[in-house]
Amino acid sequence: MAIFTVKTRIHSGANSLSWLRTLHGKRIWIVCDGFLAGSENLKMVMGEIAPDNTTALFTDIIPDPPIATVIAGITAMEKIQPQVVIGFGGGSALDSAKAIIFFGRKQGMTIETFIAIPTTSGTGSEVTSACVIGDPSAHVKYPLFDDSLYPDIALLEPRLVMSVPPAVTANTGLDVLTHALEAYVATGATDFTDALAEKAMRLVLRFLPQAYRDGRQSEAREKMHNASTLAGMAFSQAGLGLNHAIAHQLGGQLHIPHGLANALLLCHVIRYNSRDKIARAKYARLSKLCGLANFQSMDEYCVAKLINHLSNLMQQLNMAGTLTALNIDRDRILSVTEAMAAAALRDATLASNPLPAGDAEIKGIICAII
Ligand SMILES: NC(=O)c1ccc[n+]([C@@H]2O[C@H](COP(=O)([O-])OP(=O)(O)OC[C@H]3O[C@@H](n4cnc5c(N)ncnc54)[C@H](O)[C@@H]3O)[C@@H](O)[C@H]2O)c1
Ligand SMILES: [Zn+2]
Repeated sequence: MAIFTVKTRIHSGANSLSWLRTLHGKRIWIVCDGFLAGSENLKMVMGEIAPDNTTALFTDIIPDPPIATVIAGITAMEKIQPQVVIGFGGGSALDSAKAIIFFGRKQGMTIETFIAIPTTSGTGSEVTSACVIGDPSAHVKYPLFDDSLYPDIALLEPRLVMSVPPAVTANTGLDVLTHALEAYVATGATDFTDALAEKAMRLVLRFLPQAYRDGRQSEAREKMHNASTLAGMAFSQAGLGLNHAIAHQLGGQLHIPHGLANALLLCHVIRYNSRDKIARAKYARLSKLCGLANFQSMDEYCVAKLINHLSNLMQQLNMAGTLTALNIDRDRILSVTEAMAAAALRDATLASNPLPAGDAEIKGIICAII
């Protein structure tokens, strides 16, 4: 038996933000980072909130949010006692809001409604039961999964992603691709998650290059925003895999942005997982559905075409292919490889990988991206 949960109400497309006008007489608390706090994007959000609400901001979010930020957030939220919390920003802000609410509720606080407003098209956190919080002292990022983490409402407003710079568009876009690909071959994949992953994948291949080249192209931004949410729904139910298990360590130890860490690993992980006959057949199917190979082709050929296409896409988006190309010292990478492999083995996302991977296989993949 398989379960597919749809908990978050999604508003997508132009003027999705206007739903905020339905809020009246509420104490609203907005969680975001310092950049968004001073942006036109925040003005757009505030402009939709009726004056009979009271609004307060928490703007301390930083990329790859650490436990300390979550603790500071809980203290701040205790003072406000909000009825409505809005997570506003990229995955870092949305995940922080989730963790703050999660622990705040454990301390007895009542939050009626959690609204997620993503400003990057990447993590899908607006529809997932996941959040990723870092422990900088241990150099580890911990994914936490709990059904209570699903936002109640997601507002996918494409105007909010227009300002994302090209490098962040590329990184977050590759995060979407990785979510779709990992969900597609994951042990928890079903017809429901496959449908979501297939659509997400097709949208990314079609619209990411355009969103990267011209960030103000509204159709490309809207499609990428939808793709991110579709892929989030897919992996939240199907699971992720080896790619994210290692990417979390590249973030924790070497501070590589999450989407870029995934991108560096993607082709290597597909090659590794393709040793499994069922995973290979699924990658091949996706390759055919995306028009990268024809329907008569052998699975091996289809997977090779998929890897080739992804590799070309990353070059087109000017993404680095190795860690040393990111100016990370080779000796430094080697000095943390043992720790990264050990932590990847403990990462919660590894369990749903289609092919088991041990210490040697993980180190092999890390060495391949040095
Ligand atoms: N919860 C999940 O399901 C899930 C899934 C994947 C990743 N994650 C986590 O999410 C985090 C990464 O999130 P992310 O990739 O969205 O990056 P991010 O939230 O760290 O943001 C990256 C940068 O982009 C900036 N930015 C955000 N929106 C912008 C906009 N509209 N215009 C201009 N700049 C903007 C931010 O200020 C920041 O500097 C990581 O911690 C990762 O582990 C969570
Ligand atoms: Zn991810």
